[in-house]
Amino acid sequence: MSILVTGSAGFIGFHTSIKLIKKYKVIGIDNFNDYYDVKLKKARIKELKKNKSKKNFIFYKLDLTNLNSLKSLFKKHKITKIIHLAAQAGVRHSLKKPEDYVDNNIIATFNLLELSKKYKIKHLVFASTSSVYGNQIKMPFMESTSASHPIQFYAATKRSCELMCHSYSHLYKIPITVLRFFTVYGPWGRPDMALFDFTKKILENKKINVFNFGNHLRDFTYVEDVADGVSKIIKKKPQKVKLNLINNNPSISDAPFKIYNIGGGKPVKLMNYIREIEINLSRKAKINFMSLQKGDIKSTYCSTKKLKKEINYIPKTSIKVGIKNFIDWFKEYHK
Ligand SMILES: NC(=O)c1ccc[n+]([C@@H]2O[C@H](COP(=O)([O-])OP(=O)(O)OC[C@H]3O[C@@H](n4cnc5c(N)ncnc54)[C@H](O)[C@@H]3O)[C@@H](O)[C@H]2O)c1
Repeated sequence: MSILVTGSAGFIGFHTSIKLIKKYKVIGIDNFNDYYDVKLKKARIKELKKNKSKKNFIFYKLDLTNLNSLKSLFKKHKITKIIHLAAQAGVRHSLKKPEDYVDNNIIATFNLLELSKKYKIKHLVFASTSSVYGNQIKMPFMESTSASHPIQFYAATKRSCELMCHSYSHLYKIPITVLRFFTVYGPWGRPDMALFDFTKKILENKKINVFNFGNHLRDFTYVEDVADGVSKIIKKKPQKVKLNLINNNPSISDAPFKIYNIGGGKPVKLMNYIREIEINLSRKAKINFMSLQKGDIKSTYCSTKKLKKEINYIPKTSIKVGIKNFIDWFKEYHK
């Protein structure tokens, strides 16, 4: 009985695997694509293999778009649950190479769904994003809020995957939970994301580009809180519900399918986030203020009500603690 974690060399996949191997056998897969520094992905796997629970972790370099190698993996291991984190992430890259999102989000998820059907997977958790809400005016974003108007292709492919998951859950009774993550940050973070990029540039005395003239509002979520949430949710497979009334809530259906937001529920102004980085680095940032980028969402704000009510969980780490932990890690990693 093993849990398959896709994208285990990735930022969230790494932290989730570290958490899970304390209790479960984990099969990690990743294709080590070069969207960002492959050395960082390999260093995360090295770290996992050094962990005191390393005997519970097996890693394969495998591309989810290759259905034959995925089939061999399922034949070889008794996989009972899946945490599907592998994806082509990033909003800006989706303007340049949308085809990467079709392959690594849509095709990859479809292949996993097919094998989940064949091997009667007991619970599949799919990583989605707050970006599916688009530029909603009504705050906070609730799971019952419509996610029909994504404003970039990354979000469109994630929303498509959510819908594909729902249809497989309905047709083949596969228990599936969709998690919509809100800007995840922390140690071992992604070089393409603000915290890593700003820290690196401030230390190198370079200017940082701050879009929307710094007026972004983000519900930042500490990565270990996300890993905690995922490890609680994997234990709680969604049950079929009987719906008697006309259902106008897009987050519930009569399939064994659930959607939860994972976010702190305390949005922070981007400029305050930058201030916190400056405090930790004891340096002032040189800022290049720029207009809103195409596809960028102005504000995100997570409603944590459903997660609290049904899973009894809310991310707790403050940005004060989270940014400090990141900067301590960043300095140590780059020594
Ligand atoms: N980090 C965030 O703030 C955030 C926010 C919302 C949603 N998410 C979602 O959470 C998940 C994890 O994000 P992350 O920040 O860890 O990103 P990441 O890029 O660090 O991790 C994704 C991993 O998936 C791997 N991968 C991509 N395509 C693959 C394929 N075809 N086959 C096998 N492996 C493949 C990549 O090599 C990478 O290591 C993603 O699905 C992402 O869309 C992340």
